[in-house]
Amino acid sequence: PLEPPVTIAIDGPSGSGKSSVSKAVARELGLTYLDTGAMFRALALWCVREGIDLADQDAVEQASRTFPLEMGTDPAAPAVHLAGADVGPDIRTQEVSAVVSRVATNLGVRAVLRELQRDLIRQARETGPGIVVEGRDITTVIAPDAEVRVLLTASEEARLARRAKELYDTADAQALAATHDLVVRRDQDDATVSAFFEPADGVVGIDTSSLTFAQSVAAVLDVARSAAPQD
Ligand code: DC
Repeated sequence: PLEPPVTIAIDGPSGSGKSSVSKAVARELGLTYLDTGAMFRALALWCVREGIDLADQDAVEQASRTFPLEMGTDPAAPAVHLAGADVGPDIRTQEVSAVVSRVATNLGVRAVLRELQRDLIRQARETGPGIVVEGRDITTVIAPDAEVRVLLTASEEARLARRAKELYDTADAQALAATHDLVVRRDQDDATVSAFFEPADGVVGIDTSSLTFAQSVAAVLDVARSAAPQD
């Protein structure tokens, strides 16, 4: 089994079940949790509120260096604060979802957030047993030396059905069509800056299309528990 501290890196497209599975794995193993997508979302929200033009790459990169972000890492309640105010619900609105790729495909922003993410991981490892980190480029760029690296995938059909149920409480034809635009186009945009549809070398791919939530959690826990210590 693994010796602490451990980093468990979990990547995947939207609708793969990544967020709920990552939080459950962190709780089960007594680790902290970092949602890196929430950082891009918080920056997008900040720019919208401050009237920063998302097309102005330099201005958005500058904002990423100075915006008053505070990331909570408790998997039971992963709070996101901007200037002391809880923005958890605000960063998940359709308004933010619709524009967040413009922030996430800004390479200057990615370089700045990469350092913030690595600092949070380092802190977690220095002060506790470790952390589960979820995103799109955690297994490949942010923490390629993580003890456990997993890519959660799911068929487009399964991902659309999950998101439709989350967003509209149903997966009927109309809900699926509305979700298609939101999910597929965003993943295509996001995939232009990091590859998260195929596992990189050394990354364990788990297809959750036909797995329940509990089975997906169990599958990741299996990978974590059978991982060999790094040296
Ligand atoms: O996982 P999510 O939907 O909350 O992610 C929000 C956005 O941030 C989405 O456009 C993908 C992007 N993202 C990214 O580019 N790299 C990450 N490590 C995490 C998220």
